[in-house]
Amino acid sequence: MPEFVHIAVQDYLSALNGPEDGLLQEVRARALADGVPAISPDTGRLLDVLAASSAPGRILEIGTGYGSSGMHLASALAPGGMLFTIERDPARAAIARQHFERAGLASRVSVMVGEAARLVHKVAGPFDLILQDGPKDLYEPLLDRLVGLLRPGGVLVSDNILWQGDVMPGFRSEPAHSAESSAIISRYSQRLAADPRLSTVFLPVGDGVAVSARRDGGAS
Ligand SMILES: C[S@@+](CC[C@H](N)C(=O)[O-])C[C@H]1O[C@@H](n2cnc3c(N)ncnc32)[C@H](O)[C@@H]1O
Repeated sequence: MPEFVHIAVQDYLSALNGPEDGLLQEVRARALADGVPAISPDTGRLLDVLAASSAPGRILEIGTGYGSSGMHLASALAPGGMLFTIERDPARAAIARQHFERAGLASRVSVMVGEAARLVHKVAGPFDLILQDGPKDLYEPLLDRLVGLLRPGGVLVSDNILWQGDVMPGFRSEPAHSAESSAIISRYSQRLAADPRLSTVFLPVGDGVAVSARRDGGAS
């Protein structure tokens, strides 16, 4: 992963953010070994803070993976709250369930196995917080649905908006991703930035994170 801010600044801030707890480190290592993507530790801290600031009762996640981000999110749920997390791959979903169990979070997490494009229509809003970390070609097609599922003032977090730098022409000599996928992410970010239903900030945390708050009247 290329550095988007000076390495010394990155290291200084990451040290202040502190290490993840032992189970999160273990889950991240397992994901890395199996080639399963996981949010960065600093993005995890961002999720901790966003979630803790609103004591969410209902959170939706697109893209469970092995459960790293879901563990951050579910830990901050208000009493009685639920995380609904969507994963297409049944094997990954099963492993994520094991991790939620070990973290003592199983009763607060519903892992939904199947296609995100279908399952986002099976859940009912409103949600306090939504993490979009699923397939990038679904970011834009699902945006209206996800905004409609957010409560006014609710927050949509979109990961990978820097796409390892590939969204910035010339940033890398050897792009890590296809030009098509980079164009998809760029277009999505432009759309977020221009969306009058949302107030969005783009942050160089991890692989780039967009944090969008739904203004009143954002339902579609
Ligand atoms: C970036 S990873 C999620 C990582 C996870 N949020 C974390 O930080 O631990 C994206 C996940 O979305 C899943 N996925 C890919 N296409 C999907 C689809 N069409 N519907 C649902 N899930 C999908 C992949 O199997 C993968 O596990």
